[in-house]
Parts: sequence; structure tokens; C-alpha cells
Amino acid sequence: MTRKLFVTTALPYANAAFHIGHMMEYIQADIWVRFQRMQAEGDGLREVHFVGADDTHGTPIMIAAEKEGITPQEFVAKIAAGRPQYLDGFHIAFDNWYSTDSPENVELSQGIYRKLREAGLIQTKTVDRFFDPVKGMFLADRNIKGECPKCHAKDQYGDNCEVCGAAYQPTDLINPYSVFTNATPILKPSEQYFFKLSDPRCFEFLRDWLNTPGRLQPEMVNKVSEWLGEAGEKLADWDISRDAPYFGIPIPDAPNKYFYVWLDAPVGYLASLKNYCGKKGIDYDALLADPGTEQIHFIGKDIVSFHLLFWPAMLEFAKHPTIDRMRVAVHGHLTVNNEKMSKSRGTGISPLRYLNLGMNPEWLRYYLAYKLNSRVEDLDFTGDDFVARVNSDLIGKFVNIASRCAGFIAKKFDGKLASSLSAASQEWIKKALVAEDGSERQASIAANFESREFGKALREIMEIADVANRFVDENKPWILAKDEGKVAELHDVCTAALILFRQLTILLSPVLPGVAANVRTFLNDAAYTWAETSVANGAAWQPMLGRTIGAYSHLMTRVDAKMIEDLFDAPAQQAAAAPAPAAAVEAAPALEAPAAGDIEELSPEISIDDFTKIDLRIAKIVNCEHVEGAGKLLRLTLDVGEGRYRNVFSGIKSMYKPEDLVGKLTVMVANLAPRKMKFGVSEGMVLAASAKDEKANPGIYVLNPWPGAEPGMRVR
Ligand code: MSP
Ligand code: ZN
Repeated sequence: MTRKLFVTTALPYANAAFHIGHMMEYIQADIWVRFQRMQAEGDGLREVHFVGADDTHGTPIMIAAEKEGITPQEFVAKIAAGRPQYLDGFHIAFDNWYSTDSPENVELSQGIYRKLREAGLIQTKTVDRFFDPVKGMFLADRNIKGECPKCHAKDQYGDNCEVCGAAYQPTDLINPYSVFTNATPILKPSEQYFFKLSDPRCFEFLRDWLNTPGRLQPEMVNKVSEWLGEAGEKLADWDISRDAPYFGIPIPDAPNKYFYVWLDAPVGYLASLKNYCGKKGIDYDALLADPGTEQIHFIGKDIVSFHLLFWPAMLEFAKHPTIDRMRVAVHGHLTVNNEKMSKSRGTGISPLRYLNLGMNPEWLRYYLAYKLNSRVEDLDFTGDDFVARVNSDLIGKFVNIASRCAGFIAKKFDGKLASSLSAASQEWIKKALVAEDGSERQASIAANFESREFGKALREIMEIADVANRFVDENKPWILAKDEGKVAELHDVCTAALILFRQLTILLSPVLPGVAANVRTFLNDAAYTWAETSVANGAAWQPMLGRTIGAYSHLMTRVDAKMIEDLFDAPAQQAAAAPAPAAAVEAAPALEAPAAGDIEELSPEISIDDFTKIDLRIAKIVNCEHVEGAGKLLRLTLDVGEGRYRNVFSGIKSMYKPEDLVGKLTVMVANLAPRKMKFGVSEGMVLAASAKDEKANPGIYVLNPWPGAEPGMRVR
């Protein structure tokens, strides 16, 4: 069966510009889509339709437009006009960007509603709702404010208190008032339309749907199972109607009633696809009916209930053809410097500012991809981590290979690669691309891209880059170039290095599409497909032999740490440097002071910035041995998750036998300048404790983290 993909990201509210969290979601989906598009399928490449749209309906947008004195349609159009600079700027290649305020969405939403009604899943109930008698309008929860019924904080919204966190109904507020007119709202009965999620059919369907292997992440299956309850008893009917005036889609046969925005928002996925199919002459119905078509939604953890309860139930009972082939990929949230993003507190990064500072969008794509996995975990953007990751991997390991070898091909060989490869170079290429068990590394890299384990995929790609760099280091083209008798060898080495560089580029191309396009021009290549990553029968090098390549121009520059300073909003830095709140100190339990020991005097106080300069990491001791001729030292081989090993000498021989340490975790200073010692270069320092008086207590105690820590985690 031919696999076809219909992929979406959540549809962003059309009330504001994109923030960096949105970009993360689009980058994640875009990488996955680009990877899929490189896959062979039938006689060609896999067909992937990747669409998005603005989520336009609802009260907040209606009110925002009113404030500006424009129509909601005009308001939404202004927001839509701002989208391309973000999407193009970060190489996010949606096939179509559309709107939920569209004829397709009206037709599809009403069509789904009619089918749900035919299935007996729509019910009306009369409920009391707050109404603003001055404005003549029913009020949404957030249009009402008042005193919190729990903590009595003033001016809290109708759904929850921002001071004490309590959740309640708007009718629970003390002295409620309308945010529009300050009038006291009155309760008015209103007939509402409900989707009967409590119907046993919904429970039975959802239980089976959720538990289909491979459909959802295990943590999501657990979470939604909890929401279902043992037998669906926790499923409540869902109010899908709002009273006029409302910016939304009219409910058929229900005058003055509109669909609640969350009813028509996910239908917007289908509307965008349908609109796209119309433009491209693709048969929309046939595409969805095709048993090979898979439907995948990328969303964040905050909108799971809509996508894992209501949306599948809607599609099932409206007989949507892909419901059995639909998956939802949930990601965690991006934090910045370990803080939740918030405009008011001034944290967060503006994606446009990032671009305007001249920062390379592919740095961010790589950095986020490196941190992404298939689980629903939050991930953090930290400035120094970003600089270190990009500079070490993309510049130090990847681009470096080309920049060290391309010049010789141009200068000494008229831009022509060698027409054959030495056996030794072929061996090196295999060593880089084939794992120890004989399997091709591209296969496990592909499996990791497919399962959204992007971090794992990139770590493995960087292992290939490490071997490629070792190859260049050992063969030293810059030395060969000085020796007339070594011309053939120079040609061979530079050709092999560029072949490996090309392989790395293809493997990285879902993440770095811009770089890949430039490399293609440089190497005179056609569009890259995944099949070219294979080493079988010399596939990795045959096409390159004897080829004339173009001039090499710089593919990517290093991140300048100064850019990061400019990137963050000023208040964020203040917040980071603020001292611990006094309350934390006062709250310490009242214990008697302990007796003073004979300890080394404390060093002068430092700021948090001083501390963060020291990059402490969890390191795994993968090997440990005695150093011949060194009385105190052990040689440690450490893994700090960077895709390479560190060699570190440590003066702990008096305390530990090598076999005591192998396999254990410890803490190391990972950004200490390498130090050349008599026995070799030490690439960092392991932390150990010792007493002030070494004679009285000569012990040296290596630090060992609590269970759960993993190599590469930062200690802060
Ligand atoms: N309009 C709804 C979605 C309707 S889908 C039919 C919505 N919009 S949103 O603009 O608030 O969020 C859009 C997406 O961005 C969601 O998937 C949300 O989880 C994601 N993110 C919002 N903040 C985020 C981070 N800090 N990090 C990563 N993703 C974040 O919800
Ligand atoms: Zn409160």
C-alpha cells in the first residue's frame, strides 16, 4: 500500500503574532515532514500534504477587532498577513496556510454537525448564563470579573483565580461585573446545544481508539484513560453553542446560535486541506478515502483534551474516513531560561527579533531538534547551551569538514574530485557510516526521525561527523599539500572527506534545509533523497567520483555570544539575576545552629552569572585505567552525552580502583579549557571533595549524583 501523509500543526489563535513556542511546534512538524518527503514510495517519493491555518473565531478576537474599530475579518486578515515572514524565515514549508473563517470550514463544520445530529449525539438543554444587560450580550467566562470566592482577590476572571489558582464557575464570583460595561451581569436562561460525549458509544469508541498500538504516546494513553473513567462515567456533555453576537459559524437550524470556536477550529485542518486540494486539482475525498492516507496532528500538551476526546469522537460519528488512520503527536512546552514564557514578565524570545539580529534560523532548528524527543516533555532554551551546541556541532564538527578540504580541491585539482578512492578511504567511509554490528547507521537515524526522536538522530549523525573529523585529523591534508609527492593522496583524502560531508548533509537535510540547498549547489547535486544515504555497493561515493564541484563559500558562521544578550528582553536578565526571595530564607525551619567544623574558608561571594560560567555536567565513567608512571592519577574516559568521549586525568588513585568507577556517574566541569599534561590532554575535571587539612584527612571523595541523573545533564 502506498503511504500518503496529511500532516498539520495546531491552528494558532489569530489574535497575536507567533512566539517562539509556536516556532518550535512548526519546526518539529516541518523536520518530520521533510524527512518523510525524502522517502521512496512507489515509483517516486512519498506524498505529503502539510497544512496549517489561523484559528479565527471566538469572543477575544471579536472584542479585539471592536477595540480597533475594524471588523473581525479585517483584524484576522492583518494577523494573517504577518505569518509568512515567520514561516519563510525559519524554513517552515507548509503547503497551504488558510483560515477557519472560510467557506470550506463553514461547509465542513456544518456537515459534521448534521451527521452528529443524525447519529443522535446532539442535545439541547436550557442553562442559566451571565448576560450583560447594557451591551445586550451573553458573557464568556473571561468577559466577567469579580472577587475570588476562595481568597477574595479582586478583579479575577470568571473561570479561575490568578492569585490562588482556584477554578470555579463565573456564577461563583463575588460582586461580578462585565469587563465591557462594568454592569452587574444578570442570569438569563439560554438554550444551548451539547455534543453528547456521555453517550456510551463515545466511551466505547474512545477507549478502543486510544488503545490502538502506535496511535498515541503512552503517557497520553494514560492521561486520557483517566479522563474516561472506568466506564465513561467521567465523560460530560460538551457545550458547543454560543449566543449571538459571536464571531463564528452559524449552527444550522438554530437562529442566533454559533458553534463554540473549539468545534470549528479542528475542522479547520480539513478546510485547509480541502482548499489546498482545490488549488492543486487533487481529489480531496479520494485522498482521505485512500487506505494508505495517514492523518497526523502535531499539538502541544495544553490542548490534548480537545484533540483526544472531542475531535476523534466528532470524526468517528461523522464517519470521517481516516479516523482509524489518525494519530496525534503531542509535545511539551518550550521554556526560556527555565521560565515559562510570559509577555508581562518580559521573558521569551521574539522570533522576529532573532531573525532581525541576523541570527541563522537553522541554528534554532538544529538546537531545538537536538532537544526534541518523542515524549511529552518540556524543553528549555538556554543561551549558553544554544551557543555551545551550535558552535560545537554545526561549526566544529559538520561545516569544519568541508572548510578544511574544499579549498584543496579548488586550488590543486581544478575543482575536480578524484575518480577513484583508495581502499583505506573506502574503509574510513564505511567506518563512519556503518555501525559496529554491521547495520547502516542511516537506518537507525531514519527510525529515530520517523519516531520523532530527533535528539537521538542528531547524536548519531554527530558520531559520523566525529569519525569524519578523525579521518581528516589523521590524514592531515594541510601537510600532504606541502609535499609534491603526495598529490594523489591529498586528492584521495579530500575527496573522501567531501563524500562524508555530503552524507552528513543529506542526513541533516530535514533539519537544515537551507544549508542542504547550498551544499547541493556547491557539489552540483540534484535534490537529496534518503536512498542516497545508503553505503551499499559504494552508493555513498560512486556518484561523487570524478565530479567537478563548485566553489566553496562559507556555509554557516559561529554564533556570537553577544547576539544572545541582544536576543533576550531586558527584564528577563534582571529576573535571572534577582536574589532568592527573602521569604525562602525566613521559611527555614527553626533549628538550633550546628557546631562549626574546621572547614576551609568560604570564597568571596559570586553572582549567579559567575556561577553559570562553569558548565557542570553529569558524566558517565565509561572507562578507567591506571596511568603508567603517574603516582596519583587515573585516566577516565567520560561520556557527557555530546556524542564523543572525553579524556580526563584525575588525582584520585589513592582512593579508587578503576573497576570501582567504571559504569558510575559523576559530575565534571565540562567547559574547562583543555590542559596538556605529561600523559596527554585532559579535557575537563571531575569533581571530588577533600578536607581542609589533607594530612588529617587525606580522603578524596568523588561526587556521585542521585539516581535518575543522566550523562549530559547540566548541574545548576
Ligand atoms: N487555537 C488553538 C489551537 C486550535 S487547533 C485546532 C491554540 N492556539 S495557540 O496559539 O494558543 O497555540 C498553538 C500551538 O502552540 C498549540 O499546540 C500550543 O500547545 C503551542 N504552544 C503554545 N505555547 C507553547 C510553548 N511555550 N512551547 C511549545 N508550544 C507551545 O491553542
Ligand atoms: Zn483566589
